[in-house]
Amino acid sequence: MSVTHRAICLLALTATIATACAQPKGLERPPVSLVPAPTGFEQTDGTVTLTSETRVDIEPQFLEGTQSQLEWLRETTGLPWELVDDSKAAADRSRQPALTITASPEVPIEGYRLETSAAGVRIEASSDAGVFYAFQTLRQLLPAGIDPATPARTDADWQLPLVTIEDAPRFAYRGLHLDVGRHFFDVAFVKTMLDTMSSLKFNRFHWHLTEDQGWRVQIDAFPLLTEIGAWRNETVLPGQLDPYRGDGKRYGGFYTKDEIREVVAYARERHIEVIPEIEMPGHATAALAAYPEFGCTDQAPSVSTTWGVHDTIFCPKEATFSFLTTVLDEVIELFPSTLIHIGADEVPKRQWKESAEAQAVMRREGLADEDELQSYFIRRIEQHLNKRGRRLIGWDEILEGGLAPDATVMSWRTPQSAIAATKLGHDVIRTPNEYAYFDFYQGDHEQEPLAMDWAQRDITLETVYSFEPIPSDLNSAEAAHILGAQANLWTEYIATPEHAEYMLYPRALALAEVVWSAAERRDWDNFVSRLPEALSRLEASDVDFRWPSEVLGMK
Ligand code: ACM
Repeated sequence: MSVTHRAICLLALTATIATACAQPKGLERPPVSLVPAPTGFEQTDGTVTLTSETRVDIEPQFLEGTQSQLEWLRETTGLPWELVDDSKAAADRSRQPALTITASPEVPIEGYRLETSAAGVRIEASSDAGVFYAFQTLRQLLPAGIDPATPARTDADWQLPLVTIEDAPRFAYRGLHLDVGRHFFDVAFVKTMLDTMSSLKFNRFHWHLTEDQGWRVQIDAFPLLTEIGAWRNETVLPGQLDPYRGDGKRYGGFYTKDEIREVVAYARERHIEVIPEIEMPGHATAALAAYPEFGCTDQAPSVSTTWGVHDTIFCPKEATFSFLTTVLDEVIELFPSTLIHIGADEVPKRQWKESAEAQAVMRREGLADEDELQSYFIRRIEQHLNKRGRRLIGWDEILEGGLAPDATVMSWRTPQSAIAATKLGHDVIRTPNEYAYFDFYQGDHEQEPLAMDWAQRDITLETVYSFEPIPSDLNSAEAAHILGAQANLWTEYIATPEHAEYMLYPRALALAEVVWSAAERRDWDNFVSRLPEALSRLEASDVDFRWPSEVLGMK
């Protein structure tokens, strides 16, 4: 590489990313297209090729945590890479190229340094997560399609560009959500989603496990939750709510406890925490179809066949708290995450207004209205979670009637809820329906599959990319309470894995950059220029996605 190009490249780094400086003359591999964009990136001319002789040298603290990554290396290369044992280490030290993983306490948590040179690959990190993310970047430096299903054919496939990368996430919480209540998605799909998420450096999977239309998690103390609550008689036909027409087909499914454990362990290997959501007091029709005694009326509802906001909600009586805390105890046993999501969105209060039992609780507790009753409900549940060492998270309706003392707010409506919660000193995850609802249309309604059509609001790829999680009117102490952001995939109209992936990708790539990359690194045109390669990686992994017009326009 000429000195001139290198100088320009270094200068460009302050303003732009990867591809802007990745095309020196004579470069043997195509420009590097990393998603999400790293904080610091430099590329020089030339390549290094890893071979079956490559020495793998790992600092002991990372040995256990890197096992799965090393397994991936072995499987994808088909090469017998071995760890160097101590007795041979000295002799092997001179063997190059090497893959070395070194502990550097000054590298931020989840961050990493990755350098490829004639000497090989050098990774530095302060945590297993950092090493893991370095590997995700390493994978993006290799040709698309290198995976265990189609291993590299020759050593030459392991040719890497020469780069120096310093990287760390902007936000600690980087999430995607999946609603399995409206439509059920099996473990195989969830694992594929976790694979793709981890390749994009997401670290939270919000699993929306209970809904009016289905209860999806085995609970031993209350077997009817899945025997009855996991099944609906039929599903409303798309767009046929009024007048109603159903498809006449029984529909449902649920996860056994073993399946949940399998997913949690799979996610953990990929440095993703699974946050379960058990909805209360609303969106509870499926639970109340199984156990109507925890409702406020004498009538047992059926598991819903239609979407929307339903009146059937849990009644705030002692038997209900005993039921819900027993359920939550079984959930806590399955999910190690500190945060336990209890929903609390969209709770019509009609049944509480009409219920003598609910009104008696309000009088007993001196509560002024049903909003305060909801707040009382949430506080009771929070006390239980705190006793178990967990913390409550709920949708932003938990602000109404008074926020529970330790609650984290998932802000899905206006930024005002995020602002209000941070000013009260509470943590916030932003998941606004203006930018991060992946069930909304992403293009021309005539061309797209039926999607959520609300407030004439489309959420295009560029809309997602333009999302800034920190509201501008927060001071720095308040801004520190914004832990990160998440996109939600509600599945009223999404019944198949292919459709779910079509709605997720590439919008999740844009969100990955919002939550991982430094704010000054964000550059729409540059992101678009990196998309073709990123999409070719999804294609090679058999993940469906929508071809965005921006990329089609390039062809
Ligand atoms: C929500 O979209 N009801 C949280």
